[in-house]
Amino acid sequence: MTTHSIALIPGDGIGTAVIDAAWAVLERAAARHGFALAATRLPWSCAFYRETGAMMPADGIETLRGFDAIFLGAVGWPAEVPDSVSLHGLLLPIRKAFTQYANIRPHRLLPGVEGPLRAEGFDILCIRENTEGEYSGAGGRVHVGTPDEVAVETAIFTRRGVERILRFGFEQARARRGKLASVTKSNAQKHTMVFWDEMTRALAAEYADVEVTPYHIDAMAARMVMAPETLDVVVASNLFGDILTDLGAAIQGGLGFAASANINPDRSAPSMFEPVHGSAPDIAHLGIANPIATIWSGAMMLEHLGEREAAADVMRAVEAATAGGVGTRPGRDRTDAITAAVLAALG
Ligand code: NAD
Ligand code: IPM
Ligand code: MN
Repeated sequence: MTTHSIALIPGDGIGTAVIDAAWAVLERAAARHGFALAATRLPWSCAFYRETGAMMPADGIETLRGFDAIFLGAVGWPAEVPDSVSLHGLLLPIRKAFTQYANIRPHRLLPGVEGPLRAEGFDILCIRENTEGEYSGAGGRVHVGTPDEVAVETAIFTRRGVERILRFGFEQARARRGKLASVTKSNAQKHTMVFWDEMTRALAAEYADVEVTPYHIDAMAARMVMAPETLDVVVASNLFGDILTDLGAAIQGGLGFAASANINPDRSAPSMFEPVHGSAPDIAHLGIANPIATIWSGAMMLEHLGEREAAADVMRAVEAATAGGVGTRPGRDRTDAITAAVLAALG
């Protein structure tokens, strides 16, 4: 029997609840499809930081390298540890160290879920660059606290980095409905974004079967609300993709529905699967976190591990639960009730 070894990092806040919920579903799917999932639970989190002074051990990345995949809940507890410490100590270094350059975030309405828009028939795949750009961390502050203070945060876009994410986007578009939206702000940012547009045009020649349209990020934000059904694959830089995917979550009914896969396409290191949302301190410990985003991310993990049928089964069970009205309204159904409905649908 195949066994997939998974590093579980529940993290902070609702991270633990949604990982527990999703893990129960994934284990059931594994049992039904004749493979095993071996979990190693790593307590890396803000609580871990308060105990040890670090978000993960010094050899954390080396530890993770040995797993088939990483399944993460959420990181951040800003009341006690600044986000600039927690996220740069755990989530962001994993994406970078394992060259998980493609962050895949699907946005569509599950059956029974009422989104805030009139549009229902949208199916968007956001492809977010995940290792460089505005998240490069280059910069600093001078004359701190004085009237002359200056803070600089430099966005770094490399030819290698831009080309590989655009190619990834083109390939996804080719495998779907053949449309690629490339998002920049090249009317205002004349170095990085003009470079991105040039690379998009250069690659478009190679992918003549894909219809590529450049959009400015502001116009794309409006389009995702006004005409989401006109979009197929949307490729964007790290920060733009971050913002657009919370917007994507909103149009699919809320952050509790938005899944995400941090993929290392070369498979030279493990990929990481996590919901789009964070630790939700405002509802942590209330038992009302929606686990669907994490279960969906888990299905993406099974797919990545080659367990296609199990992944499809998990999505069928999620859709059966929401079609039956469970988990469709944020805050109404409890985490346990949603998980139980998905498990029941799985059989
Ligand atoms: P958030 O996504 O945690 O919460 C935003 C809003 O969405 C909140 O009102 C929350 O209650 C709601 N929400 C989120 N997930 C939900 C779910 N599954 N079910 C129901 N409602 C849900 O964003 P935030 O408040 O900006 O961030 C909180 C902390 O999480 C911060 O420390 C932030 O840096 C961190 N964060 C981490 C990740 C990650 O680990 N990938 C992602 C985003 C934010
Ligand atoms: C996400 C999150 C992270 C990001 C934060 C917590 C650093 O918002 O995964 O969308 O911006 O990538
Ligand atoms: Mn985000």
